[in-house]
Amino acid sequence: MKELLALAVAALFVSCGPRSAGNAASGTAPEEVRTPVEMAETIALVKPELKSGLTINEALQNRRSWREYAPEALSLEELSGVLWAAAGINRPENDHLTAPSALGLYPLRVYAFFAEGIYLYDAKAHRLVRVKEGDFRKVSGAQPFVETAPLNLVYVGDRSVYEGRNIPEEHQYYLCGQDAAGYAENVNLYTAGHGLRSITRGSVSPELLSVLELDPARYCFALAQSVGR
Ligand SMILES: Cc1cc2nc3c(=O)[nH]c(=O)nc-3n(C[C@H](O)[C@H](O)[C@H](O)COP(=O)(O)O)c2cc1C
Repeated sequence: MKELLALAVAALFVSCGPRSAGNAASGTAPEEVRTPVEMAETIALVKPELKSGLTINEALQNRRSWREYAPEALSLEELSGVLWAAAGINRPENDHLTAPSALGLYPLRVYAFFAEGIYLYDAKAHRLVRVKEGDFRKVSGAQPFVETAPLNLVYVGDRSVYEGRNIPEEHQYYLCGQDAAGYAENVNLYTAGHGLRSITRGSVSPELLSVLELDPARYCFALAQSVGR
């Protein structure tokens, strides 16, 4: 009898696992470490905690677009998870990403706009590299909430990856947009599964490329997102 009781207790522990502290109904993630982000020249992101968050089905159930954000910054763990969901390397043997890419050409750059500055995601090193200091969040969208959202992601296509492939220019923009939709939806599902909010946005300021100092003959805006809580 004692053995049976011990087995039942062990089974209970296994079935509870690390997700048990979360609340599927409200979309809150389990209690986790929340390290403040130091907005230095580079931000070393942390490895994703694969056992965190809700199940994919629970995240799908929670997914929706949010247009209201508290200014509270994301923790380092949350920021790392969001960037990894967008475009993190999940197969180091070939550097392929969490999101798919048409023809495997990966034209997209991921810019992160914070109150403190603009950063570029370096997937290989899983870090953010500052490209500009200052609050340019307004440039990352065309709606008031982008100015309060603690993080706005902007997906910019580099059309040079299509050189020599006989792909018409119009179709290159289309492919960049299609890739960006995958990145964005990864983020939407990540946020929905980790007690955060997000929205996919097709709207951006016309000044975007000039603020990023990018040549419009080569680079194009693909999609944007706001992320927060
Ligand atoms: C490609 C794309 C672009 C979008 N652009 C915007 C946008 O610029 N601003 C906005 O408020 N919502 C935008 N949305 C969000 C849609 O309005 C939203 O998904 C739709 O109303 C359905 O609501 P739901 O996402 O909550 O299901 C966009 C969605 C997609 C897929």
